[in-house]
Amino acid sequence: MHYLDTYNIDDLREAARQRLPKVCFDWLDGGTEDHLTWRRNREAFEEIRFSPRVMVDVGGRSQKVEVFGKTFASPFGIAPTGAAGLYGYRADIAQARAAKEAGIPFILSTASFDPLEAVAREAAGGTLWFQLYMSKNRETAGRLVQRALDAGCEALVVTGDVAMIGNREYNKRNRFSAPFRLTPHTMLDGLLHPRWLTGVFLKTLVDSGVPRYQNDDSPPNTQSIVKTPVASFQARRDEIDWADFGWLREQWPRKLFVKGVLRADDALLAKQRGADGIFVSNHGGRQLDGAPATIEALPAIRAAVGPEMKVMLDGGIRRGSDIAKALALGADMAFVGRATLYGLAAGGEPGVSHALGLLRTELDRVMALLGCRSVADINGDCLHQPR
Ligand SMILES: Cc1cc2nc3c(=O)[nH]c(=O)nc-3n(C[C@H](O)[C@H](O)[C@H](O)COP(=O)(O)O)c2cc1C
Repeated sequence: MHYLDTYNIDDLREAARQRLPKVCFDWLDGGTEDHLTWRRNREAFEEIRFSPRVMVDVGGRSQKVEVFGKTFASPFGIAPTGAAGLYGYRADIAQARAAKEAGIPFILSTASFDPLEAVAREAAGGTLWFQLYMSKNRETAGRLVQRALDAGCEALVVTGDVAMIGNREYNKRNRFSAPFRLTPHTMLDGLLHPRWLTGVFLKTLVDSGVPRYQNDDSPPNTQSIVKTPVASFQARRDEIDWADFGWLREQWPRKLFVKGVLRADDALLAKQRGADGIFVSNHGGRQLDGAPATIEALPAIRAAVGPEMKVMLDGGIRRGSDIAKALALGADMAFVGRATLYGLAAGGEPGVSHALGLLRTELDRVMALLGCRSVADINGDCLHQPR
């Protein structure tokens, strides 16, 4: 299926499934253990109903949003996703450029295959935020923070929900070691997907050698995805606590977010410790299975932190209507992880733009049908049972 023949994000998911080796698709798409949270992220959105207003002049509607004094063209952005280079050629650069084109923020993962500096350079003029997997070692953490500052990242997003990597059993079933190990099984899988093999894997190999993590907190260019088990990439992340966050706050003078918050008291702690905002996130159902859907956790968190603090939400967003529901329940912006990765896998940078365009068009229609002229009009009153 060609990406231009897809009419929504679920279609794009199918196009991505056809393009990618099974080991890659499962890694992109999957959750953890019994996929309870992964499923719940979608179910919880599906259970929310709108309460549309009729006979409203929505002719001049706009989905522009202002955050920290900066205006974005839409109230959504691209969440950080590691190892995206497995799904597309120069994947992080492609995502950053598509986000720039769409006038929205892109968050680069610590675990990217494109170096932070290259992404900043290739998407100059866009809004680049950096997601930090923090190291307990202050020297290595400081080195990465300095790189993010030097590259001009406007915000740092510290992920707090990965004390350990979640239990992804399909990787074991697929005999796929994370991040990546060449085995007869993975080689055969790759050979059966020639467009991916030539257009992504071999192209990357010829271009820049074996793909590797480029922003790791160990010395640069030593983290080969072929040789390195994820355990060493994850070195001692289970000891990170709020004291480390306090240290980070002193190092980072720009906007600082905590990602992975699901409880109101954690959101308040983040606020007390000097965070400028939080991401209500369950890592797309890829960490603790049994955690709530983010859209379920959002209202209590918004109520606890008050209207001033920035609250972002990600997890399960596949439609413009999901973005509207997130805003109606108190999010300032929504972020998508898999939606643009499907686009990337199906069609590279134009595929990412296609995914963003679908969401933007859907949101525009939802706003019109709800009777909303601006993002500020999307509030609890738009819901069938106002909250
Ligand atoms: C393939 C993949 C890789 C991810 N890698 C990271 C990462 O490196 N850092 C991070 O904070 N979150 C990571 N996430 C989580 C996303 O930032 C985001 O929370 C999640 O994808 C949102 O859910 P959605 O995919 O349903 O939109 C990843 C998610 C996926 C699907």
